[in-house]
Amino acid sequence: MERIYNFSAGPSMLPLEVMEEAAKELTNYKGCGMSVMELSHRGEEFEGIIADAESTLREIMAIPANYKVLFLQGGASLQFSMIPLNLFRGSNKADYIITGMWAKKAAAEAKKFGHVHIVASSEDSMFSFVPNVDPSEFSKDADYFHITTNNTIYGSRFPYIPDTGSVPLVADMSSNILSEVIDVSKFGLIYAGAQKNIGPAGLTVVIIRDDLIGHASSDIPTMLDYKIHADNSSMYNTPPTFAIYIAKLVFEHIKRLGGVAEVQKNNELKAKILYEAIDCSMMFSCPVEEQDRSIMNVVFVTGKAELDKSFIAEAAARGLVNLGGHRSVGGMRASIYNAMPIEGVTALVTFMKEFEEKNHVHNNCAK
Ligand SMILES: Cc1ncc(COP(=O)(O)O)c(C=O)c1O
Repeated sequence: MERIYNFSAGPSMLPLEVMEEAAKELTNYKGCGMSVMELSHRGEEFEGIIADAESTLREIMAIPANYKVLFLQGGASLQFSMIPLNLFRGSNKADYIITGMWAKKAAAEAKKFGHVHIVASSEDSMFSFVPNVDPSEFSKDADYFHITTNNTIYGSRFPYIPDTGSVPLVADMSSNILSEVIDVSKFGLIYAGAQKNIGPAGLTVVIIRDDLIGHASSDIPTMLDYKIHADNSSMYNTPPTFAIYIAKLVFEHIKRLGGVAEVQKNNELKAKILYEAIDCSMMFSCPVEEQDRSIMNVVFVTGKAELDKSFIAEAAARGLVNLGGHRSVGGMRASIYNAMPIEGVTALVTFMKEFEEKNHVHNNCAK
């Protein structure tokens, strides 16, 4: 079977070139006679892989020298707990902006360890926008301030970065890391599950400013302390070696493409094509306010659950798969991460127009 266009929110498409490269050396990594999966994490070959993964990520994200890059496990969800466990170190207060289910889960976890102040929330509007915030409402003495830069389920993203002054800004970038250029120095900590723009599930990347390491209480589990992982270069225990290897190949691929700025241009173009098709349609609409629309997860609906179901099924039969919205919201969601080629987006738009015509709905789209 040919490869198909997979619009899954994660795990999701990976660059074909990367997988072909990995396939070539799957059973014999660079002539060492072993697969990367079989390599000791203490051996020379794997040490080279993890060092290259880190240095290439540092280069493509322009990560300043006073930040550590950690390759961890437990998903972004474990970070919901590790962040409060490590960053509550003074007032035990943290500010959260609630822009979706993941932000809500992150805040709920932090509440177990300290005081959480919800600065703003768009929950009452089904998370259809990202609230504007007034810095005078931020807790001046908070230990950190948390946002989810891209809301995978609801299809929105932060169009701005809150200015939190001396309070460290912590960002869940699981679904938009490496999709656009960001200034790492504006953040105290960035984290992301790998399974969207980085590589296979099982790896979590944490980028943390040096001064935020080493404040965890000594009675927390060792594996939850950033300092242990930083002091041991992410090899306190056996790291997810194969996932780190694929991430390294993805980082190198991004570098070959011309870096994150080039990837961003392509992502913006893909999103523009898809949102234009939705906006000129008489059948489909996007529930997210225009200025806050995600360029990674494009959410749209027909307004009729049965029609949504037919659309998803018929699209799948055409090789456009995993277009169903998150189980909590329904409708459609096209996740168009870095590895989704522009051809996948144009194939989807062509199918949307055909589906409208078949259902006798006219559209205002230019042919
Ligand atoms: C923004 C965001 N945060 C957190 C998570 C949870 O990630 P994990 O499954 O790696 O724990 C997801 C998963 O899709 C996500 O999209």
